[in-house]
Amino acid sequence: MPRSTVARIDLEALRHNYRLASERAAPALSMAVVKADGYGHGIVPVAQALADDAPKYAVACLGEAEAIRDAGLLQPVVMLQGVHAPEDFGLCARRGFEPVVHGHHQLDWLAQTGARPAFWLKVNSGMNRLGFQPDELVQVMTRLDAMGARPGLLGFVTHFACADDDKSSMTREQTLCFEQATAAWPELMRSVGNSAAHFIHDQPLYDWSRPGIMLYGGSPKLAQTGPELGLKPVMSLEAPLITTRTVRAGESIGYGAGFVADRDTPMGMVAIGYGDGYPRHAGTGTPAAVNGQRIRLLGRVSMDMLAVDLSNAPDAKAGDLVELWGGAVAVDEVASCAGTISYELLTGITARVPRVYI
Ligand SMILES: Cc1ncc(COP(=O)(O)O)c(C=O)c1O
Repeated sequence: MPRSTVARIDLEALRHNYRLASERAAPALSMAVVKADGYGHGIVPVAQALADDAPKYAVACLGEAEAIRDAGLLQPVVMLQGVHAPEDFGLCARRGFEPVVHGHHQLDWLAQTGARPAFWLKVNSGMNRLGFQPDELVQVMTRLDAMGARPGLLGFVTHFACADDDKSSMTREQTLCFEQATAAWPELMRSVGNSAAHFIHDQPLYDWSRPGIMLYGGSPKLAQTGPELGLKPVMSLEAPLITTRTVRAGESIGYGAGFVADRDTPMGMVAIGYGDGYPRHAGTGTPAAVNGQRIRLLGRVSMDMLAVDLSNAPDAKAGDLVELWGGAVAVDEVASCAGTISYELLTGITARVPRVYI
């Protein structure tokens, strides 16, 4: 019998979160960001579950766009990182993918190959990862006209660096920069807005927003959890207790013997570890839940196991399922205990953990 460590995926919660994003973005439309295997939830099941609601998907790269198309889904797929090789433009044109063009080398490839996909131009409004500088856009448009690629241009995208932080003025500055940079082409569409931007009062989202983490119930804001923003957790990560025991006062648990019990402590071992993607940096005190009771981790996370304190759940026994995150413990709480963000935890669940769809 396989071990019962699973990531249960609630597709109704996913749809709820997408609808919340769309309502907040309206009148902008929302492309569902399903890159990184649907933030670890499974790109195809996630895209299928959103197929009746989402008019477009967004992914990072070509392989992810192909996975969506191979599953029979017909919506356009925006490739946020664009193409990595010239020949990929032809594939985009044939399969209805919309690459983001962010550099002069990609303009060269467009000119060389003659492929004419629908595409977006990325504007670097301050993130400084990808994109043309605002003052380059006139020159870029002239090049597109000269090579006959201008009819495929759908519009402009930019990405915010600090939308998660209400105290930062950077989103306002980036918005202004983007507006000014693109003002000369009002006939073209504009897309800004990761999840966090959906929760900024008066933030323009123009024609298309691009929600990612909020679809999966993770919080995009520094100061609030997903549930506080009206989001429902989509992944419930569960693993069974495989033994229980009492560790005596003065005894340690696990590698490094870093946790030493200060009193006799009922504890259990749970069949999940960093080999499953559970964060090794989640230390003593990180919350989990069993049988409706919140409990805490003890000591170091091993590759296949971790220890929990069962003082709050004395009746828990081998075979009972422990929730590592989900409805009782927000993934954001675990992320904060591990010094990371929910994005990393959700995308980090390894292939050993079966995804079970509800
Ligand atoms: C260009 C771009 N747009 C949108 C998103 C979605 O961001 P979030 O998951 O914070 O909503 C990402 C994610 O990294 C991105 O890179």
